[in-house]
Amino acid sequence: MLTALRDRGRSHQSSTAEDGTGSAAAGGRGTDPRRYFAYDVTRDGGVVAIRASRPDDTGRLCEHFRSLSPTSAYFRFFSPKRRVSARELAGLTDIDFVRNVTLVATVRITGAERIVGLAQYVVDDDRRQHAQLACSVVDEYQRRGIGTLLIEHVLGIARARGVVEFAADVLGDNHTMLRLLTKSGLATHRSTQAGVVHLTFSDVETDRFLAAA
Ligand SMILES: CC(C)(COP(=O)(O)OP(=O)(O)OC[C@H]1O[C@@H](n2cnc3c(N)ncnc32)[C@H](O)[C@@H]1OP(=O)(O)O)[C@@H](O)C(=O)NCCC(=O)NCCS
Repeated sequence: MLTALRDRGRSHQSSTAEDGTGSAAAGGRGTDPRRYFAYDVTRDGGVVAIRASRPDDTGRLCEHFRSLSPTSAYFRFFSPKRRVSARELAGLTDIDFVRNVTLVATVRITGAERIVGLAQYVVDDDRRQHAQLACSVVDEYQRRGIGTLLIEHVLGIARARGVVEFAADVLGDNHTMLRLLTKSGLATHRSTQAGVVHLTFSDVETDRFLAAA
């Protein structure tokens, strides 16, 4: 399934995405990622909404990070914290959707919307085709494919906006994230420093690799 990640990110074949204009290919050229909205199906048959983060998500995002287990929080922040600062929250909600794009995966529980996952990319200041990726899924919703879906959707938006090289810093014992990215069908490079694996992957290189396979 994950070998298709590279292509699904480009076409969203199994999801229904809208950008407010009714386009099925949200994040495509000319569409506005800040209005991104899609439904997708999890591995256990559940449905999640995947949408752009909004300024009014602050409370839901605080709850999301509070819900992470100590281990998940450590994997996400490289420290045991589960509370994010006002500045970090602003970096997830008050964003330009050009350099910085954040998507959240939400479910409705007795009418209230809950953020069960989020994925973000931030484009490098000096290399506009290169972005840093991060994501988190609350523990009780992990292993249902939500992390994979979020990465697919966020990569789809990034690619439509000309970003072709990605990087992620992952702790060496974070086997889930390492597995998610290395099983993605993307040609990944890794280097390790002080227990942190720096993973990079590029569409150009993956295309070359697939053509030669
Ligand atoms: C990494 C994370 C986002 C993955 O989210 P998820 O929704 O559980 O991921 P998925 O369900 O899509 O699973 C992705 C892959 O990891 C595998 N996996 C899931 N949990 C695993 C575990 N505990 N050990 C090993 N592999 C695991 C899945 O089987 C899947 O691989 P597969 O398709 O070959 O079966 C989530 O575990 C998380 O939030 N962790 C804490 C924060 C973090 O580590 N963020 C990444 C650093 S920025």
